[in-house]
Amino acid sequence: MVVGTGYVGLTTGACLASLGHRVTCVDVDESKVARLAAGRVDIMEPGLAELVARGLTSGGLSFVVGAREAVRDADGVFLCVPTPMGAGGAADLRAVEQVVGEIADVLPSGCALITKSTVPVGTARRIQELTGRPDLAVVSNPEFLREGTAVSDFLGPDRIVVGSDTPGAADWVANLYEGLHAPAVVTDAASAELVKYAANCFLAMKLSFVNSIAELCERLGADIEPVTRGMGYDRRIGRSFLKPGPGWGGSCLPKDTSALLNIAESVRFDFDLLSAAVEQNIAQRDRVIAKIAGAVGGSLAGARIGLLGLAFKAGTNDLRDSPALSIASVLCAHGAEVTAFDPAVGGELPGMLVVDNAYQVAKGADAVVVLTEWPEFTRLDWTYMAELMHGDAVVDSRNLLEPRTVLNAGLSWQGIGRPRATVRATSVS
Ligand code: UDX
Repeated sequence: MVVGTGYVGLTTGACLASLGHRVTCVDVDESKVARLAAGRVDIMEPGLAELVARGLTSGGLSFVVGAREAVRDADGVFLCVPTPMGAGGAADLRAVEQVVGEIADVLPSGCALITKSTVPVGTARRIQELTGRPDLAVVSNPEFLREGTAVSDFLGPDRIVVGSDTPGAADWVANLYEGLHAPAVVTDAASAELVKYAANCFLAMKLSFVNSIAELCERLGADIEPVTRGMGYDRRIGRSFLKPGPGWGGSCLPKDTSALLNIAESVRFDFDLLSAAVEQNIAQRDRVIAKIAGAVGGSLAGARIGLLGLAFKAGTNDLRDSPALSIASVLCAHGAEVTAFDPAVGGELPGMLVVDNAYQVAKGADAVVVLTEWPEFTRLDWTYMAELMHGDAVVDSRNLLEPRTVLNAGLSWQGIGRPRATVRATSVS
């Protein structure tokens, strides 16, 4: 059984069903359950709607409201409820505690309670105490799903991590993933809980490091593109997560860095390295804003700025902790007239005009700014964009565009950490 049908819970439920397990997904939201039971998936996650449909047809997957009834014959219960950032940066465990309180007395003896939600180290022990039932096994099985590729990440994982202090329980959960042929790290509960934070915080530090190297490139006249390529061939470093940008965001990295800092503080450890990564990330957004201000002559007040992208990364419509959105709101606060387009985000947003195509963003703009790395932006007709714009500045915070294409259209281009690319392309045009 899976409790919670957000992107983690629904992906877990649908993928486990596709591996041949009988899965019941539970949520408190009645209308959501009704939509899912009819095969309607609201979140943008490639392959998920198809898996849900297949599960419903085969009967391996079902959706119900209310956990108490559904858990009575469960062998395992995956807890996939939100653990948002609470007061002081710690993870807020109320949803987890609430579900455990609701089902603890009706779970069959020997049942495994499995946390998928990112929870502080020590939560497994706390859940065991909360249930008051030593005959239940509490297991930590952190997920490493990226939004936009959650299904393929689930079905083709780099590794499975499972930890429990109850003998045999972690192996039982690891066996649920047998069909995936992924290496399994089977360990104690606290270590499994820490893996998730360690992995996400390492990724965040990697990005903050790259963004700092990009800043150095700008000051030293080097180019971040060959620099990261040169780093990435080293297998100890790896090629992924080396792209500079407007700062890391989304529903996980900001929350998990803050939670791990909180955990470290609780045991009186100054995790300076991680705090510096978080501070660098804030500074990175400010740097992009300074670039935009510079591109429109120094003052944002009254400047017309067109934004390409609002989601925290391409392939998702998620605005949670999106650097694009926070940059947009600072621009608005400084008196800029902001127009934005994102292929996956519509509707109204405070302070700005959200339009439904990229060319509308360019109309009358003093500067156009790429904030999310949607591939469609590379296919825009930049000569036409230049005709529509009032000014000539393009700020590419994702180094997404081919600088020469933009410069050849008579526009200026500046990316992140690429002063040489700008100069070279200018001299070519
Ligand atoms: C992340 C983790 O990757 C995943 O393992 C975990 O389960 C949830 O958190 P997600 O939040 O979906 O996944 O996004 P991810 O692809 O990791 O990107 C995080 C942020 O870093 C985004 O803002 C993205 O734009 C940024 N990023 C990523 C870069 O700026 N450069 C890169 O090279 C990679």
